[in-house]
Amino acid sequence: MTQIEGSRVLVTGGAGFIGSHLVDALVEQDAASVVVVDNLVTGTEDNLEGALNDPRVRLDTVDARESEHLEALLAETDVVFHLACLGVRHSLHDPQENHDVNATLSLSLVEQARRAGVRRYVHVSSSEVYGSAQYAPMDEGHPTFPETVYGASKLAGEAYARAAFRTHGFPALVVRPFNAYGPRSHFEGDSGEVIPRTIVRALCDEAPIIYGDGEQSRDFTHVTDTARGIIALAESDEAIGQTVNVGSGADITINRLASVVTAAAGREDLLPMHLDPRPGDVRRLLAESSQMTAMTGYAPRVDFADGVRDLVEWFRSRPTSPQEMLARIEDRNWEKVPR
Ligand SMILES: NC(=O)c1ccc[n+]([C@@H]2O[C@H](COP(=O)([O-])OP(=O)(O)OC[C@H]3O[C@@H](n4cnc5c(N)ncnc54)[C@H](O)[C@@H]3O)[C@@H](O)[C@H]2O)c1
Repeated sequence: MTQIEGSRVLVTGGAGFIGSHLVDALVEQDAASVVVVDNLVTGTEDNLEGALNDPRVRLDTVDARESEHLEALLAETDVVFHLACLGVRHSLHDPQENHDVNATLSLSLVEQARRAGVRRYVHVSSSEVYGSAQYAPMDEGHPTFPETVYGASKLAGEAYARAAFRTHGFPALVVRPFNAYGPRSHFEGDSGEVIPRTIVRALCDEAPIIYGDGEQSRDFTHVTDTARGIIALAESDEAIGQTVNVGSGADITINRLASVVTAAAGREDLLPMHLDPRPGDVRRLLAESSQMTAMTGYAPRVDFADGVRDLVEWFRSRPTSPQEMLARIEDRNWEKVPR
C-alpha cells in the first residue's frame, strides 16, 4: 500500500504555487480525497482551476489558524502536507505575523495532527533555514544560520515537527525544498520571484533587474520536480523523523538566469541593469540531494533552460497582458519595503 493512493489528504497552503502542483500530483496518484486549507492571502482559486474539477478535491477558504475547523478536518485525515506560510519579503515588514504563521501555526498544527492520529505528516520547510552556504553543495547537516525572520520562523516550524517525532514517535518528516520555479509562480508584489519577474519584464521589452553583482546563485528546481520529490518522501518509511533536501543539485547565478530568460524570450538585446545588493540576500544555495535519492530514487527531470522556455510560453498564454502583470511587479530593494 502507498501512503497516498486511497488516502484522505489535507494540504495547507494548497492554493499556492507549490501547493497547487502538489494537489495536481496527489490527484494523479489516486488520493481518495484532497482537502485544501488556504485563506488565499497569496494563493488563488485559479491555481486549483483544473484540480477543482475533480470531485475528490475541495478548497476550504479558511485561515489554518482556525483550530476548531482544523480539528474537525484532521479527524478525517490520513496524511497532512503543511505548506501554508508567509514569504521572505513579508517577513521584512511584518516579522511578528510571519512568525505567527510559519512557526506558531506549525506547532499547533503538528500537535493537533498528532492528537488526531494522522498516519503521516509532511512539514514543508525551506532551504532558507541554512542562510548562505558555508560550503556547497549543502547537505542536511549544514549549519542553520537563517538571515531573515522568514528563514528563522521556518526553522522553528520544522523543529516542532521533528520534536513531535522525537518526543512522541509521531510519523512526521521535514522537507527542505530549494528555490522552485514554473507555472503559477509569483511575479507580483511581495511574493514576486526573480524568474517570473524577469520573464514578465522581458515580455514588456524591459531589461532584467539584478540586485548586486549577479553572482549570487540558487538551486532552481522545477516545481513539478519539487512536488514529485515531496510526495516521494511522504511515501518513504525511511524518511520518517528525517529532514531532507529537495533540489536539483545545480546552482544557477542570477546573471546566467537573466541570459537564459532573455534568450528564451528572444530578447538577448536586453542587457541587465545592476542595482544595489539586497540586505539579507543569501549568496549561494545549492542542494546536496543524495539522502533524497537514496530514500526514494528521485532525480529531477526538468532541465533549467527547458523549464524557463516553457515558463515564458506559459506567461505568454496568460489572459492578463504582460503590461498588466508588469504593473503588479514591485521591483524595489528590500530596504524600501514600506511598513
Ligand atoms: N517557492 C519556493 O521556491 C519555495 C522554496 C522552499 C520552500 N518553500 C516552501 O513551500 C511552501 C509553499 O510555498 P509557495 O512558494 O508555494 O508559496 P505560496 O505563497 O504560493 O503558498 C503559500 C500558501 O499558503 C497560504 N497561506 C498563508 N497563510 C495562511 C494561513 N494562515 N492559513 C491558510 N493558508 C495560508 C497562501 O494563501 C498560499 O496559498 C512554503 O511553506 C514555503 O516556505 C517554497
